[in-house]
Amino acid sequence: MIAEMDETAATEAHINSVIEKYRQYVNPGLSRLLQFGGFGDLEESAEGCTVTLASGHKCLDFLGGYGVFSLGHRNPAVVRAVKQQLDRMPLSTRAYFNEPQALLAEKLAEVTPGSLRFTFFSNSGAESVEAALKLARKATGRTKYISTEGAYHGKTMGSLAVTGREKYRKPFGPMVPGTTFVPYNSAEAIAAAIDGDTAAVILETVQGEGGIIPASPGYLAEVRRITQKAGVLLILDEVQTGLGRTGRLFGCNHDDVQPDIITLAKALGGGVMPIGATVFTPEICESAFGENPYIHTSTFGGNQLACAAGLAALEFTLNEDLPALAASSGDRLKAGLTGALDRSPGALKEVRGLGLMLGVEFAIQDVAELTINGMARRGVIAGYTLNNPKVIRFEPPLIVSSSEIDRAVEAFSDAVQESIELLSGIE
Ligand SMILES: Cc1ncc(COP(=O)(O)O)c(C=O)c1O
Repeated sequence: MIAEMDETAATEAHINSVIEKYRQYVNPGLSRLLQFGGFGDLEESAEGCTVTLASGHKCLDFLGGYGVFSLGHRNPAVVRAVKQQLDRMPLSTRAYFNEPQALLAEKLAEVTPGSLRFTFFSNSGAESVEAALKLARKATGRTKYISTEGAYHGKTMGSLAVTGREKYRKPFGPMVPGTTFVPYNSAEAIAAAIDGDTAAVILETVQGEGGIIPASPGYLAEVRRITQKAGVLLILDEVQTGLGRTGRLFGCNHDDVQPDIITLAKALGGGVMPIGATVFTPEICESAFGENPYIHTSTFGGNQLACAAGLAALEFTLNEDLPALAASSGDRLKAGLTGALDRSPGALKEVRGLGLMLGVEFAIQDVAELTINGMARRGVIAGYTLNNPKVIRFEPPLIVSSSEIDRAVEAFSDAVQESIELLSGIE
């Protein structure tokens, strides 16, 4: 008994010492926020949909790294491919050709829609967007972009300039000039905003951080028609929606749309390696890289380890038909969440999304925050959407089981009830 207590006290001291290092050396505000939100523990190991914490608690990961863990944690096929590559050569000299990069680029050309063929590799979503924005300027000789209110494309200077939330842009102004923001799901607004200087329209196929807002049926197709007619490029940012998350391999498959540039990251690394990819047409390749193949580069982009992970992830996604799994599991999760909404109609406004990219909009932000905390205490990780904190998102691994979905729904439902009771007690 005493030995057990000693062990518990030692674990707690260890957890607190790491949190203290975060407070002193990483980001004090973030430490406070995580602790306050009920996440004052350390992630120690993970497998499939389960994360094990230093305290010994096990959690179901229904946040899924915002789309990173589509294949679950430590997917064996991806881990094997990365270990094999690690033992041969992890990073490129950049003087010679490397095979994993060539194979992954070939595979991406095969699976992406339409005439998308060439890939620029980087290390993150924001970098994949930076490349897309630069390529669009070079290919068109024009400088302006059209983006949407609530859009999230990253936080580097270029990607931030097309991110539709003032709160994140304002402290870093002036931004890269030339972006017009229009309401999402209005093709007319895009048509009205295009002028002779417009290089590209950039869109998510489901606005993720904006609050899990899917493109209305026909919206992307109409934007494609408008942009084609005006000679403006269409960039689809599928960093979060790409590779099965929405129930189709790409979000744009729902509307059968072929963009000029597609951006990928998150799930492409199979939950094991960071990677970003910008895939574009031969015409864009020629106009961007034709004169100077080094016009846009990245030291680590296209490295063997990341590309080996990407290749294994894509093969697993296709062989196991993860998009179909996302669609059927998404139906089950959506039905469960809608049941919770029916039980608490005053607190919850709407359940929406596609496949396993679902969001629940709350009437009151405080209830959403308390619910995330309550879910964490019940062993389920969830999070809110960055540009709309009234929305709790559900993005579990696409391999999630029915019983895991049912457990998460129960935790959600109980946490909502608890939050409502807690807040009504304060009033
Ligand atoms: C649609 C979209 N684009 C770009 C990004 C930026 O990706 P990263 O955080 O890897 O830079 C994100 C991240 O959430 C995203 O959801």
